Amino acid sequence: MKLERLQPHQRDELAKLIHTSLDVWHRTRLNTDRFGNEWEPFRLTVEVYEALDPGCCVVAMDDSGALVGSAFFHPRETHVGVGVVSVHPTVFGRGVGRALMEEIIRLAAGKPLRLVSSAMNLDSFSLYTRLGFVPQLMLQSMTLQVPTAGFPGASTRMRPATMADVAAIADFEFRLNGIRKEQDYPFFVENQSGRWRLAVIEKPDGSLAGFLAASALPPDNLLGQGVAEDEATMLELMRGMLDQHFRGQSVAFILPSRCSSLVQQAYAWGARNRETNLLSVLGDAPPMRAITLPTFLPESG
Ligand SMILES: CC(C)(COP(=O)(O)OP(=O)(O)OC[C@H]1O[C@@H](n2cnc3c(N)ncnc32)[C@H](O)[C@@H]1OP(=O)(O)O)[C@@H](O)C(=O)NCCC(=O)NCCS
Repeated sequence: MKLERLQPHQRDELAKLIHTSLDVWHRTRLNTDRFGNEWEPFRLTVEVYEALDPGCCVVAMDDSGALVGSAFFHPRETHVGVGVVSVHPTVFGRGVGRALMEEIIRLAAGKPLRLVSSAMNLDSFSLYTRLGFVPQLMLQSMTLQVPTAGFPGASTRMRPATMADVAAIADFEFRLNGIRKEQDYPFFVENQSGRWRLAVIEKPDGSLAGFLAASALPPDNLLGQGVAEDEATMLELMRGMLDQHFRGQSVAFILPSRCSSLVQQAYAWGARNRETNLLSVLGDAPPMRAITLPTFLPESG
């Protein structure tokens, strides 16, 4: 097996690998058909990650040159985000995941690494914790069918973010959570694919109270990433995003389980739990003082 960077001609092969890996794992371990039969939607995952972090995908190839594993990494000012990690089902449990992660730890050159993983997946939990990752935050992924009439009483304070907001958003997140990812936010605002939303709520003095991104990327519509000073502000952002952009559609989001008023509101809307998750860090993990909604796309541990 050898480790290399993803080449442009391997993108479709990688999309198939990610689909097969997730699909077979979930069918055989959890008896669920969560990822369907089609690999094509995963082209978008590869496209988004390559657009946001060009050249930041390590692939494992067998002796014939076929892809048997992959791991994306996302270098940021304060840390390196990791994910999605996928190994071909024919070689589960044979050290491919560890080899990919060790390479990314080497590339991180001492910076902390952060990721969101399934808490229902003992294979990934074991892989990451054996390498020294420490779970910091219990999360729950939920799905919600937004009513066609939306949510009455949606926020009047929420507005779309502009390029002029980007530095303030990054500073806000750094002040509250000790991590900075400024390059994510222009990507959302530029919105070249038309699939991204980014909204902010300000306080009367003009400083930020919170922000929330959303994406419409098959197989999911997703809320997140988002950061707010308090649960009321995050709820206002969630309600506003769902109402303005996702009426009549199914949307997924990841809530910190400790944010009980958000969790209870999600249940009251009819949301269902899809998975439990953990935000884990290898290295320095500053306290997360904000109400934080991570996502898998782009991976935002
Ligand atoms: C999760 C996944 C990436 C792991 O990759 P892998 O190549 O099978 O994992 P590896 O064989 O390299 O490593 C597994 C490690 O966990 C250890 N492990 C596995 N089960 C364990 C258990 N129950 N308790 C303790 N350790 C365990 C193994 O011993 C090994 O550690 P070691 O290298 O120190 O011996 C792979 O199963 C996969 O692709 N799954 C589907 C997609 C997915 O879930 N991705 C992760 C999303 S968060």
